[in-house]
Amino acid sequence: MTSPAPTGIVVLVSGSGTNLQALLDAAADPAYGVRILAVGADRTGIAGLERAQAAGVPTFVCRVQDHSTRGEWDADLAEQIGGHGPAFVVSAGFMKLLGSQVLSRFTVLNTHPALLPAFPGAHAVRDALEAGVATTGCTVHVVDAGVDTGPVLAQVAVDVRPGDTEDTLHERIKAVEHPLLVEIVGRAAREGITVTQGKATIP
Ligand code: GRF
Repeated sequence: MTSPAPTGIVVLVSGSGTNLQALLDAAADPAYGVRILAVGADRTGIAGLERAQAAGVPTFVCRVQDHSTRGEWDADLAEQIGGHGPAFVVSAGFMKLLGSQVLSRFTVLNTHPALLPAFPGAHAVRDALEAGVATTGCTVHVVDAGVDTGPVLAQVAVDVRPGDTEDTLHERIKAVEHPLLVEIVGRAAREGITVTQGKATIP
């Protein structure tokens, strides 16, 4: 029996790309059902782009500063993503807020290193440490127009340990974030994802 055609996705990155690597590794197995059509970035010179190139995946860079307005950047990013024809998009450490052009055309899944709605924003690990919580974690959610406010698909908790630094805590979060992202992206690809009235479900 032949497997169904894999679901094509585009992954967006801004940094080291360890979440991307987890997806690249998973997608190497045809049973996973995902084909990474392209990896997009908002900057050059990052390990995330090198990881994509090493895996033979096309890349593109769309920098805000190369556009006269944020709206033009958003429209260009939507065009570049759309050129690859993905079923959905994964924001895996992409450190820019996506605009209405991208969000109206594509369902975007994001991974965030905290238990949303706690600690949204770009410094979630540091903010959790500074708040003195005993437990934080990671969240995979659907992106909406707010800052890490979209409907949650899945979460995993991580204990904060005495003596944790931002780096040690983030590394332990990433250790659970990678398999969670792989699981949810795979299920969304194989089973589909529905977003209605602010709730996201994978059947
Ligand atoms: C991840 O923890 C992600 O949740 C956060 O930034 C980190 C990116 O790591 N937004 P990497 O680039 O996937 O290694």
